[in-house]
Amino acid sequence: MALAAKEAHEREMMGEMPQDAVRLPHHEVRMSVSHLDLFYGDHQALKNVNIDIREREITSFIGPSGCGKSTLLRCLNRMNDYVKDCRVEGKITLDGRDIYHDYNVTRLRQRVGMVFQRPNPFPMSIYDNVAYGPRGLGIKSRSELDGIVEESLRSAALWDEVKDKLKASGLGLSGGQQQRLCIARALAVKPEVLLMDEPTSALDPVSTVQIEQLACELREQYSLVVVTHNMQQASRISDSVAFFLLGELIEHAPTAELFRAPRDSRTADYLTGRFG
Ligand SMILES: Nc1ncnc2c1ncn2[C@@H]1O[C@H](COP(=O)(O)OP(=O)(O)OP(=O)(O)O)[C@@H](O)[C@H]1O
Ligand SMILES: [Mg+2]
Repeated sequence: MALAAKEAHEREMMGEMPQDAVRLPHHEVRMSVSHLDLFYGDHQALKNVNIDIREREITSFIGPSGCGKSTLLRCLNRMNDYVKDCRVEGKITLDGRDIYHDYNVTRLRQRVGMVFQRPNPFPMSIYDNVAYGPRGLGIKSRSELDGIVEESLRSAALWDEVKDKLKASGLGLSGGQQQRLCIARALAVKPEVLLMDEPTSALDPVSTVQIEQLACELREQYSLVVVTHNMQQASRISDSVAFFLLGELIEHAPTAELFRAPRDSRTADYLTGRFG
């Protein structure tokens, strides 16, 4: 291995804070899933899934409950590692490198952040929620942390609402604000990919619109993967949509194409409400 590549590889494995996330040209493949099978004990939850996640696009996962959307999302940053009896076969790469073998898990999660269905701020101040990740990566300088906290809260469209109460508890915010705080927390470690599992399902319509607008703004800089049961949401925000059924990826296509002219009759049946 050339020296520079070797050093970069060692940095990856050690989990150091990156200088800045590496941006790829639009539409280039950032993550690639190939021949992925996942088992919870004897139950196969994902079956030979193949999908590419592209740079600066929003990819939505849709499909009926229990079809494996969250399971696949969690695979992308190895959240299934801690699930008992969970076995994964196949390959997932980030920038061409295997996420199971070539990355330390801390470093992987820093590059592939996650926002959950229910906002889950830590029981600490707004500031400390956002500074949590950077501190974990060894950043101690107050001015550097101040800068990261402000930048992350601005990117999450929350700064103006909280700038005068950064020491207040994150748990004291409204649901929509808490979700944006969780997005700010994810952005604070400068990820390249942001995974969102039904990020608006617990929110009112106004907060939902805010998070959707935010997702569209973040697309300028990040690759986003969004799980949603809301077909209007998928059609409003996504560049491409992947339809899952019983652990299989049935179809992945540009949004307009999938909604207007699905290739698979099972996709058409789902979209017209025949099941799910
Ligand atoms: N930790 C787990 N242990 C065992 N089985 C699990 C676990 N998590 C999910 N499963 C099973 O795997 C399958 C896929 O679940 P998953 O949560 O990925 O579905 P989903 O598409 O996200 O559904 P929903 O739309 O309801 O969120 C289901 O049959 C589920 O029961
Ligand atoms: Mg789910």
